Amino acid sequence: MKLRITVLPGDGIGPEVTREAVRVLRTVADVQGYEFTFDERAIGGVAIRECGMPLPPDTLESCRKSDAVLLGAVGAPEFDALPPEKRCETGLLALRRGLGGFANLRPAVCHPAIADCSPLRPEVVRGADILFVRELLGGIYFGEPRGCDGAAAFNTMRYTEPEIERVARIAFDLARQRRKKLTSVDKANVLETSQLWRRTVTRLGSEYPEVALEHCLVDACAMKLVTSPASFDVVLTENLFGDILSDEAAAIAGSLGMLASASIGGAVGLYEPVHGSAPDIAGRGIANPLGAIASAALLLRYSAQLPEDASAIERAIGDVLNAGYRTPDIRRNGSKFTIKTADMGKVVAEAVVQVLEREHAYHAV
Ligand code: NAD
Ligand code: IPM
Ligand code: MN
Repeated sequence: MKLRITVLPGDGIGPEVTREAVRVLRTVADVQGYEFTFDERAIGGVAIRECGMPLPPDTLESCRKSDAVLLGAVGAPEFDALPPEKRCETGLLALRRGLGGFANLRPAVCHPAIADCSPLRPEVVRGADILFVRELLGGIYFGEPRGCDGAAAFNTMRYTEPEIERVARIAFDLARQRRKKLTSVDKANVLETSQLWRRTVTRLGSEYPEVALEHCLVDACAMKLVTSPASFDVVLTENLFGDILSDEAAAIAGSLGMLASASIGGAVGLYEPVHGSAPDIAGRGIANPLGAIASAALLLRYSAQLPEDASAIERAIGDVLNAGYRTPDIRRNGSKFTIKTADMGKVVAEAVVQVLEREHAYHAV
């Protein structure tokens, strides 16, 4: 098994958490005898400092030639005043578009061991296991025209039926493999794009009679996510609604640092934690790397067809949480071991070895 992975650590805590995700991938490769190669490139503020642009051509080319891309985060306060086309975030959007992954999967799970880290009551979050499917290449992020005209500024939310259909199909397929419930989020009481969204999803639903489809207005959905998170299975959203609701779901998982993502459906899969560069904690070695590590697990599942190794990483994350290891963002009174980013990477890597060895022993008998 050979895998070429382009690694884009990016800004702020990006390099800190990405290093741990790579450590865990190397561990899987060592134990299983796979050959993973890592090609590290610049994106975001790092790239602007190096060559004046947030997505240098050699970065995009390396990504296009690889089997998968693992990204940390982009965003540096020093570049926030630049016009949109020069910003770090524009480099990330260009990368997403360049790789073509239109379906952004963002799981939000309540690990029982850290249910007490949620600001929500444990009995509310317990059992929550949501998979957001966020449309990633359309909507107001990319719609034209956009711009600023003196004292007025404007963006365009635009969707076509094929754009909605392709991401909805992925959501239905995933719902079919899970608990067979799909909640489609929109603002159909106000927006034409949402009315088209609802019609298209409803039409596709007739091809999936085994999946229970419900439509939910985005404002009500934002409320239900924190009042009854366990009632959701797969949640399908357009681009901006999914960005907002998936950060809200950090309240279910206990920390934004726990959340992973996979952008699939394009030429090359892109894997990144949901959080950003976290300038407020960058450089201190205290960021939670579990979202980045869980993104590496998704990489193995969706870009390498190694579902068992992906599950081994996910199980290892559960094991270290059960054993009481915590970065400061998921620490509560009574937490046993508060550890730094690199140590969290190390204990997960050790736990992965144990999980894989248990599996080998099981298959040997
Ligand atoms: P953020 O996600 O970087 O941070 C929000 C809060 O969550 C902060 O208090 C931060 O300390 C905390 N946090 C985030 N990740 C954490 C982790 N792994 N462990 C512990 N705590 C963590 O959002 P922000 O502060 O609004 O944005 C900072 C920059 O990141 C901006 O430039 C923004 O555009 C960018 N951003 C990039 C991405 C990406 O690259 N995919 C995503 C979101 C934001
Ligand atoms: C995310 C981020 C990005 C987005 C930004 C940095 C462009 O918030 O990945 O959630 O809005 O998609
Ligand atoms: Mn976001």
